[in-house]
Amino acid sequence: MTAAKSDRLFARPQQVVDFAFDDAVADVFPDMIRRSVPGYDALIAYLGVLAQQYAQPHSHVYDLGSSLGAATLAMHRQTRTHQLKHICIDNSEAMVKRSQSSLKRHMPDADLQIICADIETAEFYDASIVVINFTLQFLAPDTRLALLKKVYDGLLPGGVLVLSEKINFDDPLESQLQTDLHHTFKSANGYSELEISQKRSAIENVLIPDTLAVHRARLKEAGFNNAYQWFQSFNFVSLLAQKS
Ligand SMILES: C[S@@+](CC[C@H](N)C(=O)[O-])C[C@H]1O[C@@H](n2cnc3c(N)ncnc32)[C@H](O)[C@@H]1O
Repeated sequence: MTAAKSDRLFARPQQVVDFAFDDAVADVFPDMIRRSVPGYDALIAYLGVLAQQYAQPHSHVYDLGSSLGAATLAMHRQTRTHQLKHICIDNSEAMVKRSQSSLKRHMPDADLQIICADIETAEFYDASIVVINFTLQFLAPDTRLALLKKVYDGLLPGGVLVLSEKINFDDPLESQLQTDLHHTFKSANGYSELEISQKRSAIENVLIPDTLAVHRARLKEAGFNNAYQWFQSFNFVSLLAQKS
């Protein structure tokens, strides 16, 4: 993928503004997400395993909030013979521009479409896999159900949604424990106290986490009978929901 430039965006004291997936962020994104999201590399690799399990030949695979396309590339590597159509959607021009060149270089023979659009306006069909990796959390909470309903309708029988999110906890003690561990994870990855606190201020109005219970109830309302948690790293989880 893109050469991993080091993320120093919040290193100097600054007037903090709301976080956006702009050119500056896209430039350092691989380094930023690895050092900020515990288990990110493992989770991306496991998406390849899930794709191997659930991809249906000649179907569509959607990556919603695809950023630089890491999830799509991992899934493609395990499903080369399935004749899939990969559709990546992201509303950041900076991300789309970079993923166009990078994904086309890394998966030149794939049937790949990269769309710069709001995922809330997208239509889904013939999908065996839809991945929403750390992106639902950036949508206004009251719009999340409508997106999941559209995803459910666009899945083939047996198709799956993989939903990864940062989560909140009902239990205040667990919430503090997981938040502290996440903070320590970032510190262990070289972020200073200033970087951690300025990034937190930048993102707190933009990334709105739900509890696991809220996610499960919403998935049920969208039509999914079951949603299984298959991955957790501190306050980051991933759920697998299958359409019967
Ligand atoms: C944390 S990143 C996702 C990481 C990526 N899925 C991965 O696994 O590497 C969130 C992405 O979602 C995109 N995004 C946020 N809201 C969106 C929306 N409403 N429509 C499309 N993309 C959106 C952002 O531009 C950003 O690239």
